[in-house]
Amino acid sequence: MTVRVRKAVFPVAGLGTRFLPATKVVAKEMLPIVDRPLIQYAVDEAIEAGCDTLIFVTNRYKHAVADYFDKAYELEHKLEAAGKTELLELVRHVVPANVRTIFVTQPEALGLGHAVLCARPVVGDEPFAVILPDDLLWNKQGRGALGQMVDHVASHGGSAIAVENVSADKTGSYGIVDVEHFDDRAGKIRSIVEKPKPEEAPSTLAVVGRYVLDAAIFDCLDKTRPGAGGEIQLTDGIARLMGESVVNAYRFAGRRFDCGSHLGFVEATVRFALENEKLRDSAAAVMQAALDDLRAGAR
Ligand code: UTP
Repeated sequence: MTVRVRKAVFPVAGLGTRFLPATKVVAKEMLPIVDRPLIQYAVDEAIEAGCDTLIFVTNRYKHAVADYFDKAYELEHKLEAAGKTELLELVRHVVPANVRTIFVTQPEALGLGHAVLCARPVVGDEPFAVILPDDLLWNKQGRGALGQMVDHVASHGGSAIAVENVSADKTGSYGIVDVEHFDDRAGKIRSIVEKPKPEEAPSTLAVVGRYVLDAAIFDCLDKTRPGAGGEIQLTDGIARLMGESVVNAYRFAGRRFDCGSHLGFVEATVRFALENEKLRDSAAAVMQAALDDLRAGAR
């Protein structure tokens, strides 16, 4: 029997150092791409994949994430009184009524693996998803990346990790998988090598921020000692899980914006501005003007 993936874990307790000084006070996940915070894109993807329980692993500085999903009485009242029904709907329905949000604290930023382990009491003994909101995955053509992975797990079993082909000179920035019987979409992972030099990389398939994991990962993470940077790495836990059950790499259809990096964030902003019907023409015009200025050497 296939178990439905109902729970999605969002580890958002990292320090977000690449976006300092903004992240001194604004959680990275609350930075907007055009008009919606990164966390909203991630949550929408999880809901589309069929998840109805969203578990956020936060820390004591990240009240904004919980506030975002909470009811905003005063604001709603004012929008209602002003007859701004469209905005009211936006504010009221950041998640549909049937979806639960649960907040768990990671007391110390001891790594992504540790953050996932903090969700254990809420996830229990069922397969679950992990979404890193700073990887914004976008499939214009259809089902989101997590939905594709959930479908793959439903038909093939095991766990699944999202991968993306990167250029050979970028392997040193990612976990790179060695996969057997890869059919250009999915295949069983033999091993994951952390940040290999191009000449040592087993492939160019890089691990990105979506996972569908068997609950056995929790015991694996429990046994995992701190690795690189003194943190408990999710990758180390997954390497252990691979010794017990099948973990597949899944090359999702769609594209990724690495919004944890400045360039990826700008790229996503440009792309989503151009996708936005109301903004498209004027956004294209200001981009063109900026490029013209740049070419002309203007200040
Ligand atoms: P990153 O490696 O991107 O770290 O974490 P970060 O703190 O978010 O950002 P930088 O690199 O310092 O700029 C990957 C994901 O794991 C979460 C982060 O919130 C992010 O979603 N994470 C990381 C935790 O929840 N807890 C941790 O201890 C570490």
